[in-house]
Amino acid sequence: MTSRGVDLSLLNPILERYRGQQDALITMLQEIQDVYAYLPEEALARLSRETKVPLSRVYAVATFYSQFYLTPRGRNMVRICRGTACHVRGGHRILEAMERELGITEGETTPDMGYSLETVACIGACALAPTVVINRNTYGKLTPMKVPEILGRKDKKERAIE
Ligand code: FES
Repeated sequence: MTSRGVDLSLLNPILERYRGQQDALITMLQEIQDVYAYLPEEALARLSRETKVPLSRVYAVATFYSQFYLTPRGRNMVRICRGTACHVRGGHRILEAMERELGITEGETTPDMGYSLETVACIGACALAPTVVINRNTYGKLTPMKVPEILGRKDKKERAIE
């Protein structure tokens, strides 16, 4: 069964697994996000109906934690550090280069859903400024020239955060 393109039947195993466990809300949201890559409105409404957790509570949790996304995201998340050390060392030029390379601006997702681009506060790797995180990999000491390379070779990491 689909609702506006969202296949709600994918929720069945999750709802089944946590039946009667209202306190597993965060875990359920994580698993729902694993399925859809974000938290579709329709899925949250069904989750609320079936678990009897008020929708306002579901949204309160979903919006409180930065790990949750309420809009569709790309398969790869590109996060540009906008912390002070990175800014001073040209982080804005990395953002511009990334926007040019992907053809989108901050906060957007490429039409093929391949990449989403966002800026984040200091990621704690200031010695490597300016830095970019692509999925779980951190790239440091970047220049605009290196941007195409890190997009094309995401597995060649300088430092990984687990
Ligand atoms: S300011 Fe960018 S890693 Fe700290």
